[in-house]
Amino acid sequence: MPPIEEAIAIRQQRLAGIRRTLAEVPLDHPRLTLEIGCGHGHFLTAYAAAHPQEHCVAIDIIEERLRKAQRKSDRAGLTNSTWLRAAADVFLDALPVATRFTGRILVLFPDPWPKKKHWKNRLIQPAFLSRLAEFTAPTTPLCFRTDHQPYFETALEVVSDHPDWALDPAGEWPFEHESVFESKAESFASWIARRKT
Ligand SMILES: C[S@@+](CC[C@H](N)C(=O)[O-])C[C@H]1O[C@@H](n2cnc3c(N)ncnc32)[C@H](O)[C@@H]1O
Repeated sequence: MPPIEEAIAIRQQRLAGIRRTLAEVPLDHPRLTLEIGCGHGHFLTAYAAAHPQEHCVAIDIIEERLRKAQRKSDRAGLTNSTWLRAAADVFLDALPVATRFTGRILVLFPDPWPKKKHWKNRLIQPAFLSRLAEFTAPTTPLCFRTDHQPYFETALEVVSDHPDWALDPAGEWPFEHESVFESKAESFASWIARRKT
């Protein structure tokens, strides 16, 4: 199979797999929260336990991390969390169009891709924020935290300039619980933006 056709076929398979899992998820939940890049799930298991009124969906691209997260969540007896292997852009493409995140969107210590030639791989980019906004209810907060100061600054600039999001300078971080990367960070900074109405 030619490489482009192969790549398309792989993407279709991934979409189909994610959609199969999503069919079991209460995407119409009145408080639906998303964590992108959940890693080993330290933050989201604690968050979901503290917010039983929400349904929390956590995605990551690394199977092993998700397995550990799922085990933590099972040990804690959580019934309000879903752990899903998916890259953020493919995940959004797999969502039913009527899905709206109404709780919070959480991005903790995303890969910073420090070299300029790799910045295109960063999560917080205008096109991604536009796509995310399509699935986000008005006023829902997007909570971003990183220990990489240059990424903090460019992500802040990108979200501040974006037509679908408004920075919430008075916004308070919703819940503190150290993630793996937070526990290793010497310092970090956060911003919160809200989906414009
Ligand atoms: C630096 S780690 C941070 C993990 C966790 N949030 C923490 O604070 O410990 C970044 C995580 O994002 C995941 N990741 C990278 N690109 C992703 C993407 N496009 N979609 C979803 N997750 C992604 C990685 O696999 C990794 O687990």
